[in-house]
Amino acid sequence: MSNVNLTVNGRSVSREVEDRTLLVQFLRDTLGLTGTHVGCDTSQCGACVVHMDGHAVKSCTVIAAAADGAEIMTIEGLAKGDELHPVQAAFREHHGLQCGFCTPGMIMCAVDMIARHDGRLDEHTVRHELEGNLCRCTGYHNIVKAILAASETMGSVRQAAE
Ligand code: FES
Ligand code: FES
Repeated sequence: MSNVNLTVNGRSVSREVEDRTLLVQFLRDTLGLTGTHVGCDTSQCGACVVHMDGHAVKSCTVIAAAADGAEIMTIEGLAKGDELHPVQAAFREHHGLQCGFCTPGMIMCAVDMIARHDGRLDEHTVRHELEGNLCRCTGYHNIVKAILAASETMGSVRQAAE
């Protein structure tokens, strides 16, 4: 067993975990944050993407004990109260989901992608960046549209603030 101390969605958590516990299991089973999904056991689908110290990671590939001390953001931590994050709002606006199973991972991946590209994204880059996220409903067209729209919105907000 290991003691794990994390900050999850801004709150400190401390728990004993088995050494083999994956971060995604810790989030879902120990903390009850079931917005992070498990779609495969081969690190392929991206349904489990969360942010760890500000970067998107597949939480099924991280041992919880190895994340000790990290800051974790899950889909539950993205909205500010009733106000959706711009990427969440864009997915709703552009119908970027069907069954919704892949959506939390897609959104967490998109937030990281937009930040890394400083809000300047084109369709080719978005499709390339989404290679690690699978949508079983194959709704990629609207997902890409939503990410491009969110990127544009977030870029304009930033420029206005500069
Ligand atoms: S559950 Fe992590 S990549 Fe599929
Ligand atoms: S919306 Fe169903 S898996 Fe993507």
